[in-house]
Amino acid sequence: MEPHAFDLVIRNAHIATATDVFDADIGIRDGKIVALAQSLASGAEEIDAAGRWVLPGGVDAHCHLSQPMNDGSVLADDFFTGTRSAACGGTTTVIPFAVQKKGGTLEQAITDYHAVSDGEACIDYAFHIIVADATPHTVEFELPGLIERGYTSIKLYMTYDDLKLDDRQILDVLAIARREGAMSMIHAENTDCIAWLTDRLLAKGLTAPRFHGLSRPNVVEREATHRAISLGEFLDTPILIVHVSSEEATDQIRQAQSRGLSVYAETCPQYLFLTAADLDRPGFHGAMCICSPPPRDATSQQAIWEGLANGTFQVFSSDHAPFNYNDPKGKKVGGEHGNFTHVPNGIPGIETRLPLLFSEGVMTGRIDINKFVAVTATDPAKIYGLYPRKGTICIGADADIVIWDASTNITIKNENLHHNVDYTPYEGRPLHAWPAVTLCRGVPVYQDGQFTGRAGYGAFLRCERPTPAKPKPNFGKSTPWLDIL
Ligand code: URP
Ligand code: ZN
Ligand code: ZN
Repeated sequence: MEPHAFDLVIRNAHIATATDVFDADIGIRDGKIVALAQSLASGAEEIDAAGRWVLPGGVDAHCHLSQPMNDGSVLADDFFTGTRSAACGGTTTVIPFAVQKKGGTLEQAITDYHAVSDGEACIDYAFHIIVADATPHTVEFELPGLIERGYTSIKLYMTYDDLKLDDRQILDVLAIARREGAMSMIHAENTDCIAWLTDRLLAKGLTAPRFHGLSRPNVVEREATHRAISLGEFLDTPILIVHVSSEEATDQIRQAQSRGLSVYAETCPQYLFLTAADLDRPGFHGAMCICSPPPRDATSQQAIWEGLANGTFQVFSSDHAPFNYNDPKGKKVGGEHGNFTHVPNGIPGIETRLPLLFSEGVMTGRIDINKFVAVTATDPAKIYGLYPRKGTICIGADADIVIWDASTNITIKNENLHHNVDYTPYEGRPLHAWPAVTLCRGVPVYQDGQFTGRAGYGAFLRCERPTPAKPKPNFGKSTPWLDIL
């Protein structure tokens, strides 16, 4: 018998990349895409995708799995349950965070994070680094070596007592990122404004979940976003503002980009599909939607949609930070008798990220299919140094592919999700799209409504230096101080 030309052929694929739409069969061998053409020879396995969108697997460039917390809370998802959930929602690569402890080294953070992820992930994964203790040893000695070894993105916090850096420390890290070609991700909220306002709210007995939102108003995010942009401009180095929530922060980013600065930005489902009103759900249920920055109003929601459509945002991530609700280590820490500061920040969304955006973005015409691919897969892969292995459909890329069913009518129900969390903030929301098949390196990890992957299939990815999504301008003229550094 003739041997098959391919391990798998996806027939009649209606393919979208970040730039093109075309019809082809996809030939897969040894986990890679090796042919894109009409009427390919046979595969050992074949899938007919006629009438369906076939897109690159999602790259979720911001999620929290098995991350140690300092406040007694415990994340509900580890690398197995988190990546299982991701796969079922069409994501094939995740990038969670190896967090440095205060007083600890980055090397220890990386070692510990490999220890909890090795043999656990169902899809491929890389690590960002969180620098929480910017000592000279950390910044000047450890960071360059880790960037060289494939940990090429660094998250910096401007708030949270256990994580925050001051501006000078941020500059120390940005200077190394600039020299070594790493990407700096910044959580932009003004920590002193939040602390000042929180003290006053609590003193007045204003403790309910909705006051979490009031304690972090738009101006807090806008000021810090402006400052982060200025620090990046000061050192002529790219930055990426994570989880942007408001119209005002979006405007800051847009203005910076229009001045030619290398400022990238990420937004997340919670800023499109939740508002401040969700923090005021009956009882203590608003706690389910507590995240930082908090969900805003309808005007900001609209600005975030526009920012996705007009290219202000390059990255659409889940910021999956899952805590159970009915759990003493979760959202009800302190319970109704506590206050909003006792509620761990973050919401689950790793599985619903892509279906929500496909259904509410592409199918309503708010964004086109190429933009969907760009912000959910291609641009995150570029920005974090995984492209073109990840984030696109081309010859030589990993066969990370999602065949979409965009003629479905379903309702989001937590009982149908695959995370390890006892709620979803999107319970009851109707959807019209869900993956039919998710392939990670040519192997189905989700098919016919079932998780078909396994723990340990996912491979660790070393990241290259970022591929900027646009050319880096030369600011030499406006930053003469850089010549003497
Ligand atoms: O509230 C949030 N976003 N929690 C996750 C941690 C972070 O800052 O991304
Ligand atoms: Zn953050
Ligand atoms: Zn996060």
